[in-house]
Amino acid sequence: SRRTLFAPSILSADFARLAEEADAVRGVDGRGADWLHVDVMDAHFVPNLTLGLPVVSSLLAATDLPLDCHLMIEDPDRWATGYAEAGAHNVTVHAEAAADPVALARNLRAAGARAGLAIRPSTPLDPWLEVLRHFDTLLVMSVEPGFGGQAFDPDVLDTVRRARTLVDTGHLDLVVEIDGGINADTIEQAAEAGVDCFVAGSAVYSAADPARALEGLRRQVDA
Ligand code: DX5
Ligand code: ZN
Repeated sequence: SRRTLFAPSILSADFARLAEEADAVRGVDGRGADWLHVDVMDAHFVPNLTLGLPVVSSLLAATDLPLDCHLMIEDPDRWATGYAEAGAHNVTVHAEAAADPVALARNLRAAGARAGLAIRPSTPLDPWLEVLRHFDTLLVMSVEPGFGGQAFDPDVLDTVRRARTLVDTGHLDLVVEIDGGINADTIEQAAEAGVDCFVAGSAVYSAADPARALEGLRRQVDA
């Protein structure tokens, strides 16, 4: 059976205390975060601005959690490889933004990172299947990218099911990740559809004890 991965999103954390907030989801006995999800937004690809490579570099030095960098930026062909070179574990770019995603995946892998391809909720999966053979992660957005705390869109579960089938039948070899609106009410339907890796921002960091909130979500799907 596949191991379920959890990637809490520091978008909902206190940006003045990023190192401590990373620590807060480490948990115990392997029940904490597997990756730390870092949302990079440029106020162009999405209407919000967060942080960039200088902050990611500092965070890499401040935590031993693998960083899962989700780049919601224009021109990822120019910027993404820098995150891999800095030491990010996984670098995900948006299919809608990349000019040459296959070349980008190759560059990310050459720099030592896993390569991820993200799609917005309305972006169909099938046109990307050939491209996805070059990637290690598929990030299915279950909200419009740009903000934490939005409501989960169950329509994307068809995309998750399709990706799961393609992976299980050997047509693709990647981690199926979901991002947006994952909480105690939505995680079970996402797990049933075949998600490998759950991003959760507000559900984890709005809790008084983020590690405990994460463990609660894990318990719901690792029954
Ligand atoms: C939204 C980001 C998400 C965000 C999820 O564009 O990509 O990673 O942090 O936040 P929640 O879990 O609160 O929907
Ligand atoms: Zn994200």
